[in-house]
Amino acid sequence: MSTTGTTVTTIETKTTGTMTTPLKEVAQDLPLPTIGEPVIEVHNLSKRYGRNIVHQHLNLEIRRGEIVTLVGGSGSGKTTLVRQILGLEKPTSGTIKMFGENISTIDPEHARLMRTRTGMLFQQGALFSSLTVFDNIAQPVRELGKVPTALLRDIVMLKLEMVGLPCKHASKMPAALSGGMIKRVGLARAIVLEPELLFLDEPTAGLDPRSSDEVVELISMLHRALGLTVVLVTHDLDAMVALSTRVAVLAERRVLVAAPVEEAASVDHPFIREYFLGMRGRRALQALPPDRRAKLPPAALAPAAVGYKPW
Ligand SMILES: Nc1ncnc2c1ncn2[C@@H]1O[C@H](COP(=O)(O)OP(=O)(O)OP(=O)(O)O)[C@@H](O)[C@H]1O
Ligand SMILES: [Mg+2]
Repeated sequence: MSTTGTTVTTIETKTTGTMTTPLKEVAQDLPLPTIGEPVIEVHNLSKRYGRNIVHQHLNLEIRRGEIVTLVGGSGSGKTTLVRQILGLEKPTSGTIKMFGENISTIDPEHARLMRTRTGMLFQQGALFSSLTVFDNIAQPVRELGKVPTALLRDIVMLKLEMVGLPCKHASKMPAALSGGMIKRVGLARAIVLEPELLFLDEPTAGLDPRSSDEVVELISMLHRALGLTVVLVTHDLDAMVALSTRVAVLAERRVLVAAPVEEAASVDHPFIREYFLGMRGRRALQALPPDRRAKLPPAALAPAAVGYKPW
């Protein structure tokens, strides 16, 4: 990928060794990617399963370089929206464009090429349990066609290093990995083709707080180092606040608002009040830097910790 080639070369020269988070040093000095043209345009989307209407008149635009977090109650249709954008599920009506092209009218070969420009970390069962870590990460490359063994090895090992996993884990089976390691391997596989657009469905779900923080940091580093556009689905409020350039709130079968988190939290709507201004929401929002915290609605600044009362 021309936009990422230079960065990857830099990373390669800096990752010879046994660092556990090699991207860190490279990425921390990089500016955030500049926000560019729309890469996803969802217009007037409706989706129903039988009598269950999941989306109705849903609109969303995501621009190059953004990290847009999709939030909403369980069953509000976050995964379904991502699956439709990826062409894994057909909309009932409406249009979805990716990289400027209508995904429902392009020919299959073109669609296949488009998929190579995207990476996905799935909510459930991220890895093939019968394949080693190496073969899991190599799988999207092998699907593209025959790649020389030595080159494939270099590609997979570089990706392992980029996600902070020592090479010795390459021969392990997924059952032998911790939850945090499984997410890292899933991320390595999602970026193996150096995508422009990365979809992450619940990347921190089920992780302990420390592993969760590490995965958040890793996503932030990959975003900067590879100039990625990221669509993130999460119930993790801390991850949402730490990563999002904008938050898209799904409720009432549509996107209620898509805006920086401090603006989204200011919208007067029952779901938003409950989600952003409850105890957990306030605690997460109060971690924003001071300039952005100043834009929060007053209710978000109410104390977010309960004092210990022994009686
Ligand atoms: N293949 C399917 N067939 C029928 N109904 C489906 C299918 N996939 C999803 N649904 C329904 O669509 C709705 C949205 O589901 P979806 O998985 O997108 O929600 P979600 O917002 O991702 O939820 P969660 O936060 O729990 O992951 C739910 O009512 C679900 O039952
Ligand atoms: Mg889901």
